Amino acid sequence: MPKVLNLADRIEKQLPPQLVEFMESTALIAGGLGWRLYLVGGTVRDLLLGRPNYDLDMVVEGDALALGKRLTETRKTGITVHSRFGTVKLRWQSWTIDIATARTETYARPGALPEAKPGLLANDLFRRDFTVNAMAVELFSGRWGQLIDLYGGLKDLKAGLIRILHDNSFIDDATRIWRAIRYEQRLDFVIEPATLRLLKRDIPRLDTISGDRIRHELELALKESAPEKVLRRASDLRVLAKINPRLKGNDWLAERFQAAREYTRPDSPPVPLYLSLLAYPLPAHDIEDMIAFLHLPKTEAQVLQETAELKSVIKLLDKPKLKLKRSEIFRLLTGYAAAALETNLIAADSPAVRKHIRLFLTKLRYGKSAITGEDLIKLGVPQGPQVKNILGKLLDARLDGNVRSRKGEEELASSWILSCTRHGGC
Ligand code: CTP
Repeated sequence: MPKVLNLADRIEKQLPPQLVEFMESTALIAGGLGWRLYLVGGTVRDLLLGRPNYDLDMVVEGDALALGKRLTETRKTGITVHSRFGTVKLRWQSWTIDIATARTETYARPGALPEAKPGLLANDLFRRDFTVNAMAVELFSGRWGQLIDLYGGLKDLKAGLIRILHDNSFIDDATRIWRAIRYEQRLDFVIEPATLRLLKRDIPRLDTISGDRIRHELELALKESAPEKVLRRASDLRVLAKINPRLKGNDWLAERFQAAREYTRPDSPPVPLYLSLLAYPLPAHDIEDMIAFLHLPKTEAQVLQETAELKSVIKLLDKPKLKLKRSEIFRLLTGYAAAALETNLIAADSPAVRKHIRLFLTKLRYGKSAITGEDLIKLGVPQGPQVKNILGKLLDARLDGNVRSRKGEEELASSWILSCTRHGGC
């Protein structure tokens, strides 16, 4: 009999006590209903790798919806339950817990599974993407912590291999092509040679996947700690080209992604910035194609479009010898989304352009005149476009250092109003 690996110690050490207690009580409730409960998927993989992962994924050989309902009725407070396709998503405190009903429908060949294997769970695990994601841990009390490894996941984990469970895996779900690349690069694993051959064979299957699902995969790739590695591999395998043939995951992109991380807060990946850097080298019509194919939400689409527009506007800032007035820089750059400006700041080759965008982002964009439209009306300016006009001129004077106080602004405004009156309007 092979030795059964028990992960009870790892569960105790690696998971927060509240989550361990949650699993214990959920297993008890399931047991009371005559059902067995397991921890599965990425949580098990990461327990074995010693990587933090607090998104619990569980499978019950019973009814996940009924179990979720029971949980809300018992002492666990503050749980919200969303159910979909026999799966419940629980939100409890800061945690997300997925419980799925073990699925009986399967691609398994009859007789492929040895007798000792628990039927429902074995089927459920066999439907999964990679061997390292197809392990489970027993959660009912008598066997708490025992690893169930029916498909060689542990061996592959030790060897650093991403391996599919059967030859049709990428045909069943072509998004697994993106997933294989993501796990390979995240974990510093390699895609096992036979899996890689099938992955390459099935790349055309990506055409069967909707733009929304591809966008989801791309966003997940961009949430990785080093997305440039995922995109380089996807580019080399010509998987990235399925989004747009001109997209490249190269050294240029890697340097820009690194700069994006230095430029933004370390706690969350700058996904919109990454996306617009990825699209930056594309001509405008390819950007429009990409927006349409990926069904990008309006704000993200706008960042990509404005990034492209700014690419030509900033040529006017590429004047290292000529001293541009601050108000001129302001007028050129105002009104664009910050992410579009940041993209151009990171991607532009010209130091003069970068200097001007940085000046705008750190100082000029916060510029304001001290007096308001209402003040101008009190000074005798008729309501209408003249107010906006004078406020704009005052802001320019402020930015260029021609006026520094409220009093100075009032004097300037009064002199303009006087000359306007003399000339019968401005
Ligand atoms: N899964 C699958 N095929 C897919 C998507 C998911 O087989 N196309 C299975 C895998 O077993 C995976 C589990 O569902 O482990 C949960 O999916 P997900 O949350 O995407 O995977 P995690 O491994 O938890 O991923 P991550 O570490 O990126 O959060």
